[in-house]
Amino acid sequence: MTSSQRKMSRRDLLKQTTAAGVAAATNFIPASPAIAQKAKVKIGLLLPYTGTYAALGHNITDAMKLRFAETGNKLGGREFDLIQLDSEADPAKAAANTNKLIVGEKVDFLTGPVHSGVAMAMAKIAREEGTLTIVSNAGANAVTREMCGPNIFRTSFSNWQVCFPMGTEMARRGLKRVVSVTWNYVAGKEMIGAFREGFEKGGGAVAKEILIPFPNVEFQANLTEIASLKPDAVFAFFSGAGAVKFVKDYAESGVKARIPLYGAGFLTDGTLGAQGAAAEGIFTTLHYADSLQLPANLRFRESFKKATSRDADVFAVQGYDTAQLLIDAMEKVKGDVGATKALISAMEETRFDSPRGPWHFSRSHNPVQNVYLREVRNGDNAVLGIAEKEVSDPGTGCGMA
Ligand code: PHB
Repeated sequence: MTSSQRKMSRRDLLKQTTAAGVAAATNFIPASPAIAQKAKVKIGLLLPYTGTYAALGHNITDAMKLRFAETGNKLGGREFDLIQLDSEADPAKAAANTNKLIVGEKVDFLTGPVHSGVAMAMAKIAREEGTLTIVSNAGANAVTREMCGPNIFRTSFSNWQVCFPMGTEMARRGLKRVVSVTWNYVAGKEMIGAFREGFEKGGGAVAKEILIPFPNVEFQANLTEIASLKPDAVFAFFSGAGAVKFVKDYAESGVKARIPLYGAGFLTDGTLGAQGAAAEGIFTTLHYADSLQLPANLRFRESFKKATSRDADVFAVQGYDTAQLLIDAMEKVKGDVGATKALISAMEETRFDSPRGPWHFSRSHNPVQNVYLREVRNGDNAVLGIAEKEVSDPGTGCGMA
């Protein structure tokens, strides 16, 4: 069977089994390429608008809308529609949701998600269907490693990329014995795994890895265990509402006064207002910091605040950059979404002034970017320096790398 036959038979099957597919099949109008070009471009957003990651999904979406508005709401001269679907950060619903957008809505571009488990399902289908996809948060390493493909891009980070530099940094600081704690799913496991790789390389040892079911926020038993293990420090990944709760519980339990807290930057990004004093002194690594004194960052933060009345965070930056990537690539092909090869080349070559600083795609389509070392000081993620310059995910197992 050729790949196009495989694609056809899969599509046919999906059309029979999804309500959206049935609607699309009955509305079929044979269109000439000229007519098809006049239709609006469709961008599908699969993001969490409810649950522990809701704020992340909203910031990605609103920053995309902001960048589109700033550039006249056209892509290569064409109008477009954003089709937003709540992923609920639920991997069990990810395949059906992805099919709703690709097969049902026939989107030209697919973007999202936040959750790595959702990303694994989404990228698999997008790869089979050939839909141009831009992952705007989820860090699942496989997306730009084994599962990489010409049509799969990521504007955010890989889980390894953000946490490996913290492992080396903590070892460099003379910490010897650390406990890590996270949610028990792809992103959590990959982040503490990357931290461990860097930490052990520098001579440190991980005393225990504590895994908590996603998205649980009952941390008391875990904090008691951490206190009794008496490590030199704790390394954590939580995000969104879960990060707010963990950081507050860590401080309120009294553990913070004795055991310093380190983590992936998501622990304190977009959350400081709600965490208050509990977040002071937490060290994190991330490919962004609010306080970066870059003209593009200052401009971006001001316009995001004006548009939403909220402070921008790393998720907003990723949404903004995703929109910019679409804008640049569509400009180059004059809005011709059918020019797949040219679109892919345009995306690969993209270079622009991001609020996070300079970045470009690696051969496996993951950003090559600086990872900053930050400390929460006076309610702000202060930049202590660059933990590691131009970090590139190894892209292991990607045929294109
Ligand atoms: C992920 O699941 O990949 C994920 C979720 C939230 C974050 C970062 C990564 O803040």
